[in-house]
Amino acid sequence: MFSSQLIKALKILKKLTVLTGAGISAESGVPTFRGEEGLWKKFRPEELANVNAFMKNPQLVWEWYDYRKKLISEVRPNPGHDALVKMEAFAPEFCLITQNVDGLHRKAGSINILELHGNIMRSRCMECGVFIDSLPSVMKGDLPHCQCGGLLRPDVVWYGEMLNQDILHSAFRAAETCDVFFSIGTSAVVQPAASLPMVAKQAGAFVVEINMEPTIISDRIDETVLGLSGEVLPKLLKDTWHIEM
Ligand code: OAD
Repeated sequence: MFSSQLIKALKILKKLTVLTGAGISAESGVPTFRGEEGLWKKFRPEELANVNAFMKNPQLVWEWYDYRKKLISEVRPNPGHDALVKMEAFAPEFCLITQNVDGLHRKAGSINILELHGNIMRSRCMECGVFIDSLPSVMKGDLPHCQCGGLLRPDVVWYGEMLNQDILHSAFRAAETCDVFFSIGTSAVVQPAASLPMVAKQAGAFVVEINMEPTIISDRIDETVLGLSGEVLPKLLKDTWHIEM
């Protein structure tokens, strides 16, 4: 399943950088974006996760986020998340970059995480910019508001919006400075995250993809391992470091 080159690269590795996407949470029961289950009330995520949709119908967009928050609060990390926690303990340096907003890596116990697209459990005031971790105390109708009176929005990056530049800079730095890079459970189509595996490759890292099916980067990297991340990652731990999960 794994090349001897990959096992060797892991055994002598100094820095491991990992990029994850919705696929790593699929086995926990969180729908991916581009799979059929990504649809909610016949809306595609792109139709709801943008500022225009929110300004036009904040109630509908909040309803979608409330549905996803509830779903996420009821699910547990899976063996794929758990294997990455163990890898963090083995790698001298480790950075986990995730496009997921579900917080499952933190729940599993990963420490050095860069959340590129924000976190669904947090909200942010559209007026004063304050971040709110728990549910807002002020409701006007069905909509959550800040103490300042401004409308709250989920603290996630929407289509057409800029990513947090400090987090993005750290992510590119982590891709440029690792010797092994994993791209796990992502279709690798949404920029700028999708360019991270190629940045790592150009900087000389051994780049490996773990996915159920080939993606647009498969031909341009060192190795593609086809399978479920919740099965492949524990097996990789076992084959490399003889750790049973
Ligand atoms: P996608 O839904 O585009 O892709 C999920 C990928 O995971 C696909 O390539 C699947 O083949 C793969 N997959 C599914 N189940 C898997 C499993 N058990 N093991 C391994 N692979 C599996 O999700 P992302 O690539 O994360 O952005 O999408 C990127 C961004 O697009 C999201 O963060 C979101 C969305 O628009 C924003 O909301 C800003």
